[in-house]
Amino acid sequence: MANDSNRFQAIISHAKEYGFVFPSSEIYDGLQAVYDYGQWGSELKKNIKDYWWESMTRMYENIVGIDAAIFMHPTTWKASGHVDNFNDPMIDNKDSKKRYRVDHLIEGYAEEQSATGNEQLAKDVLAQMDALLAKDDFAGLKKLIEDNKIKCAVSGTANWTDIRQFNLMFSTEFGSTESSEIPPSGGGGANKVYLRPETAQGIFVNFLNVQKTGRMKIPFGIAQIGKAFRNEIVARQFIFRMREFEQMEMQFFIQPGTQKQWYEYWKEERLKWHLALGFGKEQYRFHDHVKLAHYADAACDIEFNFPIGFKEVEGIHSRTDFDLKQHQEYSKKKMQYFDNDIDPATNKPYGNYIPYVIETSIGLDRMFLLVLSAAYEEQDLSTPEKQDSRVVLKFPAKLAPMKLAILPLLKKDGLPEIGRKLMDDCRTSFRCFYEEKDAIGKRYRRMDAIGTPFCVTIDHQTKEDNTVTIRYRDTMQQERIPLDKVKEIVQAAIM
Ligand code: GAP
Repeated sequence: MANDSNRFQAIISHAKEYGFVFPSSEIYDGLQAVYDYGQWGSELKKNIKDYWWESMTRMYENIVGIDAAIFMHPTTWKASGHVDNFNDPMIDNKDSKKRYRVDHLIEGYAEEQSATGNEQLAKDVLAQMDALLAKDDFAGLKKLIEDNKIKCAVSGTANWTDIRQFNLMFSTEFGSTESSEIPPSGGGGANKVYLRPETAQGIFVNFLNVQKTGRMKIPFGIAQIGKAFRNEIVARQFIFRMREFEQMEMQFFIQPGTQKQWYEYWKEERLKWHLALGFGKEQYRFHDHVKLAHYADAACDIEFNFPIGFKEVEGIHSRTDFDLKQHQEYSKKKMQYFDNDIDPATNKPYGNYIPYVIETSIGLDRMFLLVLSAAYEEQDLSTPEKQDSRVVLKFPAKLAPMKLAILPLLKKDGLPEIGRKLMDDCRTSFRCFYEEKDAIGKRYRRMDAIGTPFCVTIDHQTKEDNTVTIRYRDTMQQERIPLDKVKEIVQAAIM
């Protein structure tokens, strides 16, 4: 690939052509920053979800999962600070009327500078931006845009409005408009509810339900996977930034004062989870937040080297007791935990306290993009005799949408029957694909393009000695193995 931007475009086209991701309601020209997952995309997404869920809830004995509703009482969002603080500074170009998130506009400019060799300038601009954002200095940010003559990509002018804050939450009406099903304490219009902008609040409001019914002892965690919605103003870069997306979040409840140690612990654990997928340590880095969210006393991102550069895939946040305390205040219900462990300093039980929280929060769609872009490879297989190439998705076998393709060489002579029998034997354990049509080379290429790690072909020799040819996706090597070993080999790879 000539450059990363071409590579990114190639990945987006491939995702569409091979049934991974489609623009939403495409027949009506799509809906900006909303996407649908196709037949292989939904399998890949589910496998990523399972990988996260199983590692978070099964590998840690003190973490349990929940599945809370998307709609929540609107006071939740007043208490959490999202009604007042979940804003992005935006700027409009007066000529094109296009609205930009200020940090994205400046980052875009820095990327351009860096790509044209002005790396020092790019670094300086980003450092200035971080410092100004941390102080909410909007006049300073506007001056930074003007001083650098940053232009609108549509109008090509630098004719900017002042910077203003916009709330990112979507809202809708609940129940019939005549009745007022939500008590007035709901804030805003009587029937107004929000589509949750993070799944975390569903965990906070259920903290005591889970702690009591699950007899959980601190430290413990509650995990959840679910949809979240944000009215992102600049929503581009494919599924990297969407208006409807999914999060995989875990809130870990701890004793006050232990947050530093648990923050470091979860940074390490989460990085280990990423590295276990085998995409290479050098592809990841931590980025500490300069401007902290309204609830955090420390926060960082795990960034991955996407084709669009190093970008956040997961956040680790030390959320203090902010959320539980706020919910206690707004709901007038105690959010305390009684800790009967003995405090060595006083020789008495720790007693009642509002726990502190470390959060790990990863975007499922962003993780999908990570896996897709790390797996995507274009290979030139030409020989002096023949031009040849392939696109292969080198998914870790456990994430691959399809694990095994069963390909009888001919549609006759009893070969399909052997293939079907193998399919019946394997399909209850993992996802298999059966195909008789087309030349075998073509069928291999189609399986490479959707990332199927194993193909087996069934030929006349199979009838004689019960062996098949297995082909490994990444090396394209083939070997003859007993038919009854196929299931075992695939199962060992997807463990
Ligand atoms: N509960 C904390 C929270 O929501 P965040 O950093 O705003 O923190 C966490 O979001 C993760 O959710 C991000 O690291 C990213 O992977 C994902 N995410 C956030 N906004 C997104 C969007 N508009 N589209 C896709 N993924 C998004």
